[in-house]
Amino acid sequence: MIGCGYLGAVHAACMAALGHDVVGVDVDAGKIAALQSAAAPFYEPGLNELLADIQARGSGEGAGDRAGEGGHAGSLRFTTDLAQIAGARAHFVCVGTPQRRGENAADLRFVDAAFASAAEHLAPGDLIIGKSTVPVGTARRLAEQLHRTNPDARLVWNPEFLREGHAVTDTLHPDRLVYGIPDDEQRDATAAVLDDVYATPLAGGSARLITDYPTAELVKTAANSFLATKISFINAMAELCEASGADVTELADAIGLDDRIGRKFLNAGLGFGGGCLPKDIRAFMARAGELGADQALTFLREVDSINMRRRIRMVELAREVCDGSFLNKKIAVLGAAFKPESDDVRDSPALNVAAQIQLQGGNVVVTDPKALANAEHRFPDLQFEEDLTAALTGADAVLLLTEWPQFTGLDPEATGALVRTRRILDGRNVLTPATWRAAGWTYRALGRP
Ligand code: UGA
Repeated sequence: MIGCGYLGAVHAACMAALGHDVVGVDVDAGKIAALQSAAAPFYEPGLNELLADIQARGSGEGAGDRAGEGGHAGSLRFTTDLAQIAGARAHFVCVGTPQRRGENAADLRFVDAAFASAAEHLAPGDLIIGKSTVPVGTARRLAEQLHRTNPDARLVWNPEFLREGHAVTDTLHPDRLVYGIPDDEQRDATAAVLDDVYATPLAGGSARLITDYPTAELVKTAANSFLATKISFINAMAELCEASGADVTELADAIGLDDRIGRKFLNAGLGFGGGCLPKDIRAFMARAGELGADQALTFLREVDSINMRRRIRMVELAREVCDGSFLNKKIAVLGAAFKPESDDVRDSPALNVAAQIQLQGGNVVVTDPKALANAEHRFPDLQFEEDLTAALTGADAVLLLTEWPQFTGLDPEATGALVRTRRILDGRNVLTPATWRAAGWTYRALGRP
């Protein structure tokens, strides 16, 4: 596994759990040390337990009774020495492709560097498998480069669909496996190696699709664009609900019952953030432009705008509830992570709103069960409070912006006894308005009367 960030660390642990002998490589010595001691440098439910369990096998503890799901007890080790990949049959490239500074396009420096350095250690017949999210056309370019230096190595594009917060389950039980392989005489033999790697999920019913390179790359960006569009669609409906007095949560329930539409990813509120959806739709638009097909994706600009408008609307709504001004008001912001069960704060809608309110003079206090350290790093000027009770005490308004169970389960009476004024803004449409109003709260939400 080349690159042990979110994707690589999870994939490494899961492939070992499936019974493979895995070596994870990263240039970041701190990250490698953390993974070796089963303390991933990010929060993902179940991952540290999995890392500890598998690495204990390597040290001989209980190896006999801990066979992987595939029957053979896999092993896992982490190193900063790339030469250690020699001898592996399958080399997964799992490095990041962030948004380029000042541009929409993806930054491919890490992918290019990983392929170039891995090429020095490949043996004839080895598979190198791209998992990073890349602009369409990247795999073909990398394959051409690879064949100049390693004519007998094979490249497969095998996109990843895991969700943060569910990464281990998504990797062990993927709904589909996509293999992007050129249509030549080695296609079947190449697919067979991946079938070996994924034998357990395939036996468990995961669908398997073999495509060419560009289709495999597009499956990933198209899926994320569709999800982003679905969220922005319901958030656009929320704007209409606000204008007409309708309730977007009832609307979503009703249209979601049509199984052609489906209820999933129709939760209106503060919109999407994180390290994937926002940057992926932008990189997709940039790539479409390079390909002369920019018109095809102009709608994604609107998807992005609708998403960003929700953050602005949330701030307006909060100001309205606070009688027109944040000055001398304590605003308790519940949530810093871009979604629950994650400590990821990349493009977090919650922190965006918190920062805007602070810039408008509010005394903002942000609390989150897992993401405060990361949040503090990105927004050193914001005030953070680990203790939920302390964050709520004396608040003039409470903003629920990330739907952690600790927040969605708050009791209106007990919370009411802590705050100064009973005002709550439900940025994720997860509370029951009647219950809060019955306890004397002013309840406001996006897209609800
Ligand atoms: C997303 C995709 O869901 C994964 O399939 C994909 O593999 C991953 O990106 C990636 O490219 O690596 P993730 O970023 O972990 O996964 O998060 P999601 O669960 O998709 O949520 C994204 C954002 O949308 C969150 O901020 C969430 O709060 C928001 N959201 C989600 C809504 O506002 N409404 C919804 O109905 C659902």
